[in-house]
Amino acid sequence: MILDLIKKRRAVFPVQYNSQPITDEVISKVLEAANWAPTHRRTEPWRFKVLKGDSKKRLGKFLSDKYQETEERPKTVKVKKLRDNPQRAAAVILICMQRDPNKSVPEWEEIAATAMAVQNMWLMCAELGVGSYWSSPSLIEHIGDFTELSEGEKCLGLFYMGYYDEELPSGLRQPVEEKVEWLD
Ligand SMILES: Cc1cc2nc3c(=O)[nH]c(=O)nc-3n(C[C@H](O)[C@H](O)[C@H](O)COP(=O)(O)O)c2cc1C
Repeated sequence: MILDLIKKRRAVFPVQYNSQPITDEVISKVLEAANWAPTHRRTEPWRFKVLKGDSKKRLGKFLSDKYQETEERPKTVKVKKLRDNPQRAAAVILICMQRDPNKSVPEWEEIAATAMAVQNMWLMCAELGVGSYWSSPSLIEHIGDFTELSEGEKCLGLFYMGYYDEELPSGLRQPVEEKVEWLD
């Protein structure tokens, strides 16, 4: 049942990944799931850049260099984490949103549609036994210095992917009843 998969999906972080590679076929399946997200006026605003191999190393170097450049007192632990995380992942996908040039829907709807695409990816990963999570460091505002973005394209985060060995914890949520008002 889909609810079981929704509840089973966890954020799985790079420290939890093992060294098993992910095939392009699996990555393509995850991207295909993304592509079926709902989209107002069919703007299909989600854009992805798949980083494997050396490009992950370059991303790690870019993030840690940029952090040291922009931070007054950079923390050594964070410098190392930013550098190492992309390499720990089997793949990192840059999550981008392409603003429709006709502005046929408000920007928030384009961001919402892209977030729905990411949920599809995350669920697909959960079903395939691939660990993943959406990372949104403030440094992504500089990602245009790492790779070229089109006019009106924004990076909303990094989607880390990797296989893992440990059993995942069950998730934590407050009861939905606390967030719902039923009106007659
Ligand atoms: C838009 C978005 C951005 C996120 N950014 C980060 C992040 O930068 N760092 C992080 O540790 N987790 C990030 N997460 C993942 C959440 O921490 C994670 O989903 C949350 O802890 C709940 O855990 P669960 O997804 O396993 O239930 C992000 C999630 C979303 C939806």
